[in-house]
Amino acid sequence: MSINQDEFKQALRRWASGVTIVTTKAADDQPAGMTVSSFSSVSAEPPLVLVCINTDSSNAEAIMESGVFAVNILETDQADLSGTFASSKTHEERFRETAWSEGVSGAPLLDGCTANLDCALVQKVQAGSHWVFVGEVQAVRSQDGAPLLYFDGGYRKLQA
Ligand SMILES: Cc1cc2nc3c(=O)[nH]c(=O)nc-3n(C[C@H](O)[C@H](O)[C@H](O)COP(=O)(O)O)c2cc1C
Repeated sequence: MSINQDEFKQALRRWASGVTIVTTKAADDQPAGMTVSSFSSVSAEPPLVLVCINTDSSNAEAIMESGVFAVNILETDQADLSGTFASSKTHEERFRETAWSEGVSGAPLLDGCTANLDCALVQKVQAGSHWVFVGEVQAVRSQDGAPLLYFDGGYRKLQA
């Protein structure tokens, strides 16, 4: 039995999430990345997380080729950066708008995020239009700060 696509999308708009930028190293060693809200923790021992990336995105190929990715959890004032990494801008243009440094895996870690999870790709599953990438966290850093939220097609801030 197939469900109505609009009803499916409408139901998913009810889900509130944080916002991340998933970064990786492209074939030419240049930084690559995109905005991703389909992120989840998976396991503490070993430390695993997952992200879902559209198979059409060049980032998917770059993650599979490099075998590394980082999940950069956005702070409440980084909505513009989220927009940049979800736009038609080139990767070079996207990274020009933010400061970053290379993590132990080689994936770019963005400054100003509430957390950066530096991962080695350990498993991948194709599910419909997306790849589900499971990463084992190799290094982590976090700092205090409110999260950027996404709900009903728009950015939100956590209310005290
Ligand atoms: C808030 C937000 C969340 C997003 N989450 C995802 C996601 O989880 N997976 C995905 O494949 N694309 C997601 N996108 C869309 C991609 O960021 C967008 O298509 C981006 O341009 C893809 O990068 P590319 O152009 O380098 O392929 C999201 C966009 C926004 C604005």
